[in-house]
Amino acid sequence: MNSGRRQTGSRIPDFYNMNLDERQAHLVEALGRPLDGLLGPEGLEPALADSMIENVVGVYGLPLGIATNFVVNGREILIPMAIEEPSVVAGASFMAKLIRESGGFTAKVDPSHMIGQIQVLDLQDLQEAETTLHEAKTQILEAADEAGPMMLAVGGGARSIAVKTFAQSPAGPMLVFYLIYDTVDAMGANSVNTVLEGIAPLIEILTGGRTHLRILSNLADRRLARSTCHVSPASLAFGEFEGKDVRDGVVEAWAFAAVDPYRAATHNKGIMNGVDAVVIATGNDWRAVEAGAHAYAAREGTYGPLSRWWVDESGSLQGELEMPLALGTIGGATGVHPGARDALALMGVETAQELSEIVVSVGLAQNLAALRALATEGIQHGHMGLHARQVAIAAGARGDEIEAVASAMIEEKNILVDRAEELLRQRSDG
Ligand code: MEV
Repeated sequence: MNSGRRQTGSRIPDFYNMNLDERQAHLVEALGRPLDGLLGPEGLEPALADSMIENVVGVYGLPLGIATNFVVNGREILIPMAIEEPSVVAGASFMAKLIRESGGFTAKVDPSHMIGQIQVLDLQDLQEAETTLHEAKTQILEAADEAGPMMLAVGGGARSIAVKTFAQSPAGPMLVFYLIYDTVDAMGANSVNTVLEGIAPLIEILTGGRTHLRILSNLADRRLARSTCHVSPASLAFGEFEGKDVRDGVVEAWAFAAVDPYRAATHNKGIMNGVDAVVIATGNDWRAVEAGAHAYAAREGTYGPLSRWWVDESGSLQGELEMPLALGTIGGATGVHPGARDALALMGVETAQELSEIVVSVGLAQNLAALRALATEGIQHGHMGLHARQVAIAAGARGDEIEAVASAMIEEKNILVDRAEELLRQRSDG
């Protein structure tokens, strides 16, 4: 259960330069409630983990950062991200800061329609079986709803069917039955699989064939999420880089991914840095999201970028990300993991659709962060800078000391806590 809507600004000046305790205190105060599931050491206790999977021996931690500055569909949102890679949270926060200047992200999500598949073999006549299934559509949808009364009770349930036939396959002629099923605020794998197993006997009776696999498809392309944003060239300018050049550099970087699958894979990896971090923090199945994203990226027969960047009539940089997102705010680990529940509460998210709107926007922000860096100073610059700042903070640097110690370590190419401590001692000695 989350605590309902909260109106906290997502802009927290100097959050980056606070220490861990200060950041935690700020967050708890801003939210007006404790966040022990996210912030406390007792987040996921081993005893609870033991009830989630088999052979449990402990729990495994990941850094949890908060991306600031996000405005999605007019709402300010602080976004929890669980990820081990430096620069990701800072990159998302920084791009969100630029994008909020032009109104933030506009996101839209399809209804939660998942696809379930039943493989049918040993058929005498594929065409006849296909026709029979279409004729029996109402009967099948009713049977599916009988097999899933809980989803029906919350407004979900069977929506439609489709059939594909393969005259030839390594297993002989094959028919695939598709059930389109609305899982509302659940990711839906369990519900869909239960229903598929429930209706498989009916599919056998109707077709005279043998049903084999009955399983959800992770290519959730009826559950797409889209986010768009625009940034003015003025907001993109920094250092010696002019805004127009940064804008055009981002579009050229996108063009590389549009023509070359080797680049597209890395381009999409950058998007998934943001997407996965929020998906993990909210207890969702990131393997399912990954599988869907990459299958969708290859939907035209060649692997391509999930996002698109172009220059609009006003000269602004426009970006759009469209991808399948099968996420839940109920069921699975989302309902069990105390950190996941707090993560949803922190974002004030109540529905799976709202969560998807946020996740797809973080993916777009992350993509822009990577392309902007790649198109200008290169990716290593930011990585080293961030790493050095983190090391300086870990060594106890505060305020102005952080930048000074980090810069000295970068110059010396010696970024270690011991060295940072030494530099801090030297500063305080004199
Ligand atoms: C690194 O984790 C992600 C990037 O490689 C993404 C990209 O190249 O677009 C920086």
